[in-house]
Amino acid sequence: MSLLEKGADNTSRWVDDRLGSSNFVRRSLNKVFPDHWSFMLGEICLYTFIILLLSGTYLTFFYDPSVREVIYNGSYVPLKGITMSQAYASALDISFDVRGGLLMRQIHHWAALLFMASIVVHLLRVFFTGAFRKPREMNWVIGSLLLILGILEGFAGYSLPDDLLSGTGLRIAYSIAMSIPVVGTWVAFIAFGGEYPGDSILERLYTVHILLVPGAILGLITFHMMMIWYQKHTQFAGPGRTEENVIGSRFYPVYAAKAGGFFFLVFGVLAALGGLVQINPVWLYGPYDPSQVSAGSQPDWYVGFLDGSTRLMPNWELRALDHTLSFNVLVPTVIMPGLIFTALIFYPWIESFLTKDRKYHNLLDRPRDVPVRTAIGAMALSFYVLLLIAGGNDIVAHIFRVSINSMTYVLRAAIFLVPPLVYVATKRFCLSLQRSDEELVHHGIESGTIRRLPSGEFVEETVPLPVAHRISLTGVESDRPELEGATAHGSSGTPKGAGYGDTHVVDAETGSRGAVSDGPDAHGSASHGMGSDLVGTSSYGNGSHGNGSHTSGSHAGQPHAPAKRRKSRGFFFEHKSPDTTAADAPVERELENTVD
Ligand code: HEM
Repeated sequence: MSLLEKGADNTSRWVDDRLGSSNFVRRSLNKVFPDHWSFMLGEICLYTFIILLLSGTYLTFFYDPSVREVIYNGSYVPLKGITMSQAYASALDISFDVRGGLLMRQIHHWAALLFMASIVVHLLRVFFTGAFRKPREMNWVIGSLLLILGILEGFAGYSLPDDLLSGTGLRIAYSIAMSIPVVGTWVAFIAFGGEYPGDSILERLYTVHILLVPGAILGLITFHMMMIWYQKHTQFAGPGRTEENVIGSRFYPVYAAKAGGFFFLVFGVLAALGGLVQINPVWLYGPYDPSQVSAGSQPDWYVGFLDGSTRLMPNWELRALDHTLSFNVLVPTVIMPGLIFTALIFYPWIESFLTKDRKYHNLLDRPRDVPVRTAIGAMALSFYVLLLIAGGNDIVAHIFRVSINSMTYVLRAAIFLVPPLVYVATKRFCLSLQRSDEELVHHGIESGTIRRLPSGEFVEETVPLPVAHRISLTGVESDRPELEGATAHGSSGTPKGAGYGDTHVVDAETGSRGAVSDGPDAHGSASHGMGSDLVGTSSYGNGSHGNGSHTSGSHAGQPHAPAKRRKSRGFFFEHKSPDTTAADAPVERELENTVD
């Protein structure tokens, strides 16, 4: 044993004698993480948050949140001699006079944008793959809170430099608070310390931005990670993957090395952006003056949808009993986001209520296999994008030389018409993707070779789908011995998929290998196909081929074996991915008949 190893051994024994932690550490290092590119999205959120903390800490050394008036005398000549707040002057100093200040400011701002973008994309991946289903609902809720806190944190940070643009944003925030019936004036006065702009808002926002919200985000991220650790990660269907195991790489060394490398990659990209691409040039906007708003004022993209909803809202007000109720601000900035975020937070329960699905899910859905959920997600996205476009309506109108009024009228109509259309189109698209999967599974891949049979008939030859591809499409595990290279799965913990060429590791903690695919929703459930617009009433929909009777005849060279379906669910979110046991001619004919 080398000196180094001896030292490490002694240290770990010393720690273990006091904390008894070696078992925990060993289990943690052996933790298995599934491999899929989309699982990196959550990591990007994590890494950008760390980068935000590091770059933000640097900025706190030089930023001063005071609204005390000073005369600027720094290096940026166009603003020399101008009266401004100490906060704005310190932001200019960071940009021009502090060593590395501009780089840090820009890294910080880019990191904030990437943080929010990665949260949204991560959320979409969790949503479209159904990763939020039981038992991960609480982590979905924590995630939703993180999204809301991220928006708040970004807004607070954006307001700190006290330039003309950020002051405009704060003024909108004040009006939003004022629009709340009954308590609005109180809320606004308490937050701003009196009539707008007041002289305490920046100091308060600073505390919110560097202490309260980051603390809350840190706490929630810690919870988020602990729950992922405890509940283990989901995975996509594939050879050997079941609801009961996790297949991937161990935390140490493979995952840790990958994650460490990825962190530096994210840091590198942000440093390059911060160094090379200008963002939020506050010196161009000038100091905040409540009497001015510059043309083309835009918030950062993640707040843009609220700006858009406000710009689209008609100017409706109600005056009664000497009071004014401003629907034009209240509806788009308080009621609408309130409803959206409430629906977001409770979505896992809404879906499980509608589908009556109370089962545990560790295998992910492919979005096309759950057309209704995917269509809802696409509809929500189209709604969001329209609001975002509306948020920049002045810029769009300017660039495309169209009237801003016409844009507003068109977008008002589009916000009601486009999302339902997107819903229908997405659902149809998912169903046709399912059908193309169906073709692949039943007929194999087209080889391009046409053969003439002795009878004179021409047929196209197809090549059977590779086993791994077929399982990932159908979620159906066929019997091992039929599949080339497969090893029978025993109780030894050997991965069921070993022999398929993947490097699999089964989570030692999960144990059970015997329960593979033979749970309550094993093949045979009659609900298969019920929810489909397309084939709802065909033989796909009546469960007639879900009874396990199609075990004869291998189609298109596919290995045939009594296969077991992974899942079956009710009407609303029906999973209709192809069932290999249904690969016989009558069913195909039924499907062809349903083509519209
Ligand atoms: C600061 C923000 C966030 C951070 C740092 C973060 C981080 C992560 C990481 C590292 C993972 C594991 C890798 C992956 O699945 O991508 C994960 C999983 C997860 N996240 Fe997030 N996340 C954040 C926000 C969100 C949001 C906004 C939601 C949804 C509303 C969400 C819901 C989930 C769920 C349900 C899982 C488990 C997914 C699974 O096991 O497949 N997270 N998160």
